[in-house]
Amino acid sequence: MVYLTSYSGICLAALLITAQAQEHLNITALTGRDNISVLECWQFVNPFIMLTTPGRIGTQSLQLPSPANASYDIIPSHFDGVLHNAPRRQFVWWISGQVHFTLPNATDEAWIYGGKNGLIFAEDTADVSEWGHGTAFPSDEETVALTMPTVDGVVPEHTVLHNGACGPQELSD
Ligand SMILES: *[C@@H]1O[C@H](CO)[C@@H](O)[C@H](O)[C@H]1NC(C)=O
Ligand SMILES: *[C@@H]1O[C@H](CO)[C@@H](O)[C@H](O)[C@H]1NC(C)=O
Ligand SMILES: *[C@@H]1O[C@H](CO)[C@@H](O)[C@H](O)[C@H]1NC(C)=O
Ligand SMILES: *[C@@H]1O[C@H](CO)[C@@H](O)[C@H](O)[C@H]1NC(C)=O
Repeated sequence: MVYLTSYSGICLAALLITAQAQEHLNITALTGRDNISVLECWQFVNPFIMLTTPGRIGTQSLQLPSPANASYDIIPSHFDGVLHNAPRRQFVWWISGQVHFTLPNATDEAWIYGGKNGLIFAEDTADVSEWGHGTAFPSDEETVALTMPTVDGVVPEHTVLHNGACGPQELSD
């Protein structure tokens, strides 16, 4: 009995350590609220899991909603993407360059740098935002993006950490 108790105590401790080690990805989202586009910092409900697949054992992985199709987009330096809505609910992973999101009807803005923290979700479609958002590409290099609409417009399960884009402390180092 004593043995069993301490054993379950150890199990509980192990579970707690595992729970603490579980990281949740945060990404900036462009969404519609009261018919205007706003920025939010989202945290995915599903945590990263530790892989057990050969070649990746013990590395972190997060399952994302399936993309319907994807496009590899190359945007010239200093391009100005005038006000527009997200055409569909989609992930956009900014791979290189720099993106400056502005909101015509709100004061927030977001600077996204191409690279591993370049993933955003855009869902300010015309049915939820009248004016959409502005997108400028101030970088001297081309901006490259992987655009991935989700199947059936599925939105990843998330909680809203706060209004506005995610800050550096909410993104991975
Ligand atoms: C794939 O993307 C194109 C361009 O956005 C779109 O017109 C088409 O309907 C998409 N196909 C599917 C299966 O979602
Ligand atoms: C939203 O922004 C657009 C474009 O700048 C402007 O024409 C419109 O009046 C704004 N709407 C509100 C409610 O502020
Ligand atoms: C958004 O605003 C436009 C123009 O005022 C209006 O036609 C549309 O019905 C509004 N949409 C929603 C969801 O409130
Ligand atoms: C997401 O944000 C939370 C709250 O600020 C933070 O504890 C967590 O470490 C962030 N996740 C990543 C992967 O940086």
